[in-house]
Amino acid sequence: MSSKPMGKIITVFNQKGGVGKTTTTCQLAGTFGHRGYDVMVADLDAQQTSASWLSRADGANFPATLWSGFRYKDSTAVELGKLASKYDLIFVDCAPAVDQPGTWASLLVSDLALIPTKLSPADTDALPAALALAKKALLTAGREYPVRIVPTAFRRNRADEKAALDAIAQDKNYPNFPPLSQVLSDRVAFTRSMLYGATVHSMPNAKDAITEIDALGDAVAKLLKIPANKRT
Ligand SMILES: Nc1ncnc2c1ncn2[C@@H]1O[C@H](COP(=O)(O)OP(=O)(O)O)[C@@H](O)[C@H]1O
Ligand SMILES: [Mg+2]
Repeated sequence: MSSKPMGKIITVFNQKGGVGKTTTTCQLAGTFGHRGYDVMVADLDAQQTSASWLSRADGANFPATLWSGFRYKDSTAVELGKLASKYDLIFVDCAPAVDQPGTWASLLVSDLALIPTKLSPADTDALPAALALAKKALLTAGREYPVRIVPTAFRRNRADEKAALDAIAQDKNYPNFPPLSQVLSDRVAFTRSMLYGATVHSMPNAKDAITEIDALGDAVAKLLKIPANKRT
């Protein structure tokens, strides 16, 4: 059997529900699947929304494998470690609470953590808890890896949302965990592609959404120090 380099684990988490964790996970995972990578989505949320996304159309439209690992709790890290020898990339969609054993386990074995957030006060108020968890995980793991906030469902023309994003970027408490400039805007294609069990790349009239997820994919590849496309 030929050996394969250890795959990269990307934890997508936040204590809030409805902030775009599942949307970011599935769109990004599928983007890397389209780019030739062997991708797994690990759905650690008992609601199993990623599982449902990948399973539509019998999974025929989604270029990634699903692992419904939400029952593993503390042994999630061991299971993810085993899976990482079989896949290039594992995107981990976490449950909406920072005290979940699966989230903690995943953060301890990660190469990158992404914290999706919408820009309303109810959403951004949850950020300090998520950032504190990431900080604790890096200390406990005894290694450094990038942690980034991903602005989701962003409405560029709303002054309050722009101000909220600027406030996050300038927050001196967490200078090491900045928001990415590659935001996902509020676009119906990001939502509707779930109905087809696909990424926005399969959707008609989704040019702007595709441009955004491709740019986010490029940024993630850079943070992981991997090529944007596997086959080039
Ligand atoms: N970029 C976006 N544009 C439009 N709607 C979005 C976007 N991201 C998320 N949503 C919507 O917000 C809701 C919550 O998103 P979801 O990814 O399920 O969040 P979570 O996994 O954090 O609970 C869903 O209805 C989803 O379609
Ligand atoms: Mg979800």
